Amino acid sequence: MGKKVSRRKFLTYTLGGTAGFLASGVLFPMVRFAVDPVLKRGAGEQYVDVNLTIDQITETPRSVEFTVHREDGWYVPEGGEKLTAWVMKDDNGDVVAFSPICKHLGCTVNWDSNPQFKNEFFCPCHFGRYYKDGTNVPGTPPTSPLDRYKTKVENGKLLIGPVEKA
Ligand code: FES
Repeated sequence: MGKKVSRRKFLTYTLGGTAGFLASGVLFPMVRFAVDPVLKRGAGEQYVDVNLTIDQITETPRSVEFTVHREDGWYVPEGGEKLTAWVMKDDNGDVVAFSPICKHLGCTVNWDSNPQFKNEFFCPCHFGRYYKDGTNVPGTPPTSPLDRYKTKVENGKLLIGPVEKA
């Protein structure tokens, strides 16, 4: 003979099951809402062809502008996000792309723009200085090197990816 289920237990199971079913209907969209952008962000790194062949890149930093079309959570900037990089070859002949954002308070750094500090990146806001390899000059406001973009070369052309922190 099968085990008898009391009326109380039956009601408890039924109500518990129904409550669980309803809760999953509410919780699942909430969890997805919170997690989805994180998953999308890691879904793939975007590299942009910046219209520069590898032989156009020399040891002198040059400013390159490019547009990235990406979502920031649920926000998609219209027309894309305009970015700039200082692109050059380092002493080993490897391509480097520095972010122009000063690590002090976020102004824009320029290459060789101050005659007092030749062959350096210079930030006019508070006289921040960086050596050619992106390292901050000690004693000036920035306390860390310039960030670099990830780069890769395909078919002889430079592609720029996301910024990796220095
Ligand atoms: S923001 Fe560049 S030195 Fe202050």
